[in-house]
Amino acid sequence: MPATSTANADQARQDMVDTLLRLQTEWNMTPISARVEEVLRKVPRHAFVPEASLAEAYETDYAVPIRRAEDGLITSSMSAVRVQAMMLDQAGLEPGMRVLEIGSGGYNAALASELVGPAGEVTTVDIDADVTGRARRYLDATGYGNVRVVTRDAEFGVAEFAPYDRIIVTVRAWDLPPAWTAQLAGGGRLVAPMRLRGVSRTVAFDLADDGHLVSRPDHHLTVFVPMQGAGAHEERGIAVQGEDIALYDVEESVDVAALRAALHGPRAEFWPGVEFVYPDRMHLWTAAHADRHATLHISGDVVEHGPAGRVAQRPTPVVLADGGSVAVRAKRATGGGRFETGVFAYGPHGREAAEHYVDILRAWAKRKDTMARIEVWPSGTPDADLPEDRVRVLDKPHTRTVLSWP
Ligand SMILES: C[S@@+](CC[C@H](N)C(=O)[O-])C[C@H]1O[C@@H](n2cnc3c(N)ncnc32)[C@H](O)[C@@H]1O
Repeated sequence: MPATSTANADQARQDMVDTLLRLQTEWNMTPISARVEEVLRKVPRHAFVPEASLAEAYETDYAVPIRRAEDGLITSSMSAVRVQAMMLDQAGLEPGMRVLEIGSGGYNAALASELVGPAGEVTTVDIDADVTGRARRYLDATGYGNVRVVTRDAEFGVAEFAPYDRIIVTVRAWDLPPAWTAQLAGGGRLVAPMRLRGVSRTVAFDLADDGHLVSRPDHHLTVFVPMQGAGAHEERGIAVQGEDIALYDVEESVDVAALRAALHGPRAEFWPGVEFVYPDRMHLWTAAHADRHATLHISGDVVEHGPAGRVAQRPTPVVLADGGSVAVRAKRATGGGRFETGVFAYGPHGREAAEHYVDILRAWAKRKDTMARIEVWPSGTPDADLPEDRVRVLDKPHTRTVLSWP
């Protein structure tokens, strides 16, 4: 690489880290640790995405697309550096640790390799041989030949190099396969992007002595490509109005025509005087507490011009009721840069759904903590062994995930 472009890349990298530090203050994010900052300043991110411009490679909140399926959907991307920094801090990598990264790209494994140092070990695994091929090439070219690159469906982990002090999953996991827990060392930690009744949270779990997983308090909203292979899970979306309105994560059958008519009909508004804070944490709270929950996606145009009016956020947590009725979370300014949250009710039973929703929002306003505790047990664990203060249990083929707000 010519000297000038190396200098440009170095400058772009320092600027990227400076911007990240500035944004974390502005957005009140968990601060990046000094050790992660140091490795971000060092590892040449652009060398892992030669197809991208320097500006794209060093953008703080941009996932660089690497691979697409035939239908154009992205199946692999180099994650946004903001997310990588956050997950490395969630993982808490220390010198000498053994790390498994699930979902490769090369760059994140290089950062991990710097953090665990020469006494540590990093293994990265991807189901896609093109992804591992390029990761291997770019890791070798940048001096990280010590990182192991494995091509395989990570549903079954990488048993031959286990146990791992840390497993970092960089692909959206519907369920947590038993191999991941089994391949963790005693006292180990698993960081994974999960789907919890439609809510995306990247959670750091500590392995408890009895073998179940307990979340650490700092989980975050993130968006990842979904897992392929044996652990793939297709989430069902229902088109309510073309591409403009869709319902996701629905656990019941829905009368789509009635719902569409309801959303175009009159609405009743409920404003219980609850402040609008931490919308993604409120989403998880609602998803856990609502009996008939779903997530409504409404395109910007429809939000501005009806039928749904100004809903709080897209995607929006909703409560369903009979006859296509629905209660949708809403938001309005109360002055001084503050907002309150409320509910819009649509359809013949919209009021019932809205009353349930308002109760959930009022309870949210009284909660002690906004962060859920998330615990994961193997499927088959009897209810009697789950925490008594559980709000909701999500049963999946391998696991029982328990949500509570202690
Ligand atoms: C977001 S990308 C990985 C990003 C990378 N860790 C980074 O930081 O740049 C997700 C990767 O997961 C891979 N993947 C999907 N399903 C998988 C599976 N079952 N086993 C292993 N890798 C999988 C995809 O091929 C894709 O490359």
